[in-house]
Amino acid sequence: MGKSMQNVVSRSGRFSEGPAQIVAEFTESISFDYQLAQADIAGSKAHAEMIHSLGILSEEENRAIQTNLDVIAREIAEGTFVWRPEHEDVHMNIESELTRRTPAGAKLHTGRSRNDQVAVSMRLWQRGAMQSLGESLLKVQKSLLALAQAHSEVIIPGYTHLQRAQPVYFAHHLMAYMEMFDRDYERLGDAYKRVNVCPLGAGALAGSTLPLDREKVALLLGFVDAQGRPRVSRNSMDAVSDRDFMVELCGICSLIAVHLSRLSEDFILWSSSEFDFIRVSDAFTTGSSLMPQKKNLDVAELSRGKTGRVVGNLMALLTLLKGLPMTYNRDLQEDKERLFDTFKTVCLTLEIWAAMLREVTLKKERCRQAASDPALLATDLVDYLVRKGVAFRLGHHAVGELVAIAEKKGVLLNELSLEEFRQVNPLFEADILETFRLEKAMSKKTCVGSGGTQPINTEFAHWQERLGAYSIGLKKS
Ligand code: ARG
Repeated sequence: MGKSMQNVVSRSGRFSEGPAQIVAEFTESISFDYQLAQADIAGSKAHAEMIHSLGILSEEENRAIQTNLDVIAREIAEGTFVWRPEHEDVHMNIESELTRRTPAGAKLHTGRSRNDQVAVSMRLWQRGAMQSLGESLLKVQKSLLALAQAHSEVIIPGYTHLQRAQPVYFAHHLMAYMEMFDRDYERLGDAYKRVNVCPLGAGALAGSTLPLDREKVALLLGFVDAQGRPRVSRNSMDAVSDRDFMVELCGICSLIAVHLSRLSEDFILWSSSEFDFIRVSDAFTTGSSLMPQKKNLDVAELSRGKTGRVVGNLMALLTLLKGLPMTYNRDLQEDKERLFDTFKTVCLTLEIWAAMLREVTLKKERCRQAASDPALLATDLVDYLVRKGVAFRLGHHAVGELVAIAEKKGVLLNELSLEEFRQVNPLFEADILETFRLEKAMSKKTCVGSGGTQPINTEFAHWQERLGAYSIGLKKS
């Protein structure tokens, strides 16, 4: 047996011989679940308080556990705590170090299993992650709103099928993303309710013979409903075996990533010489090692690219759960890296967007040129006929004819003579030229959500109020 196969992990109890090195390496999780340390300690402190109230821990033992856990938490935060790979995971590391410091540590695991311990740690961690994601989403929304308001008068072509379709305010286009991110934010708040349930007390799978005060633990850890009532899991087997709350977060993060990816694509297009609508400051772009003229939007490209791993993490989690027998199986240890990676990736991407959006300027002249093609107002011309009583389909056909004539003559739609208009439909009068005035056309769109001049201003006011009303995190004041 090679050196690497020597037994290095000492075990006790029914295992007389520890696993070989390769098994230890294969099964360890400390290399990533150390991130659960503060959550694990919070869970342990609450559990200790509760078993103290049952008389299992004396006053003195509880105090020793509480203060030693506080010290360990501080050492971990400061980076001075020594992690021992031979203790496998974060939970065993902390408990064994606690027990080395105080013999009372050996009583901490009373009425608890690593299965409900890991479940509560993950839920506590995820609550914090969801708060952070909510805050980062808000930052992006605030930056989007600032950019939209700074260029409130700029009109660009709106596209369908990536073909110029109708003129829209640049702000209207940006605020489409406000809506998407707002729904993501709401999804976080909604999913939060299901994460915020305490699994401690479920034990390994079937609870405990001890009279655990689960409500007390839930209250101490903030697992409460809107009325402040404790929320505890109702089925011990479910509590230790499902990870659907993580799937939900990975699903929400996938949507956030997809929304960011589409925003990325828009910005990449807009900054290309073909569109040339925006300029992003140099700090967020990179040059080419070969072509001196290049200025690439790498941040947006990477943000689009990272969507792949976020969606992949969601698939990995679902695949992990599919077909698992009840209840806890070690497979579940594989959930963590997927969730941690998802959170880190999406948070970072949101943060970089919040910063980059503040470094964008518009090339107004280019936008004006692109939006000035009168053909973009062909639909408005149909509406002109509709107002005079023409059936929409017939009006559509008439304007189609005009577009064809203009195309054949090689002129713009508004360069056709009144005669030519009237030959197609005699209801056209001299005021048709008014239809081609872009600002006027924009002011005519007054329906809610239509992105005309007046609704855009209503939107600005709406978002200003809504974003201002958010307090930190997922709660709205
Ligand atoms: N590190 C384990 C995990 O992440 C903790 C639970 C271990 N439980 C067990 N019965 N081996 O899932």
